[in-house]
Amino acid sequence: MENEIIAMPRIGDKAPQFKAVTTQGNINFPADYEGSWVILFSHPADFTPVCTSEFMTFAKLESEFNALNCKLVGLSVDGLFSHIAWLRTIKEKIEYKGMKNVEVKFPLIEDITMEVAKKYGMIQPGESSTKAVRAVFFIDPKGTIRAIIYYPLSLGRNFDELLRALKAMQTADKFQIATPADWVPGEDVIVPPAGSCGMAKERMESKSEDVTCYDWFFCTQKLPIEKLNQ
Ligand code: BEZ
Repeated sequence: MENEIIAMPRIGDKAPQFKAVTTQGNINFPADYEGSWVILFSHPADFTPVCTSEFMTFAKLESEFNALNCKLVGLSVDGLFSHIAWLRTIKEKIEYKGMKNVEVKFPLIEDITMEVAKKYGMIQPGESSTKAVRAVFFIDPKGTIRAIIYYPLSLGRNFDELLRALKAMQTADKFQIATPADWVPGEDVIVPPAGSCGMAKERMESKSEDVTCYDWFFCTQKLPIEKLNQ
């Protein structure tokens, strides 16, 4: 394992293809998700506390992700029966931060061979060679990886950030803009996206009240929330 070269998919790559058994039946990834965004995420192990808090939160927010045309798919290197028993325990026994009777309806992949986890660079031996790290792959409706976030075993994910990143990428696609640090929907966006200098000069000279330029390379424009949902 130590000397094994592990391929890491990168932003802009097509999501590596795989077929897998999940708690919701078999899936053919990413073909089954064409036309939707999908978040493929891994967790280290069933029946562990950080993972339990994350799964309950993913389940609570699933309808919010779905409303953004985004489906969720989880993975760990545990087997199907472990997954089923853990998710049943969560539903029947765990009450945490006001969440109870939580049913995880999105698929959880069994990956005892680590085939999928290795394909996606989720096994990072410096952290653990027997468990997946907490990886998050944002894959767009055409099957292209658009963002990747990795967290170590001890660090539970920030779900506001996952939702924010998804909304920001969807907004960038829809309006051909970029989003500044800590952007949340309703705040000003960056025009034109970094790299198009000619347009920057045009914007700089714009008389529009909606545009603010801090310098020739840094202009923002209002993008009110009502416009986002049109
Ligand atoms: C957890 O989810 O609590 C956890 C899993 C593996 C290692 C450390 C923490």
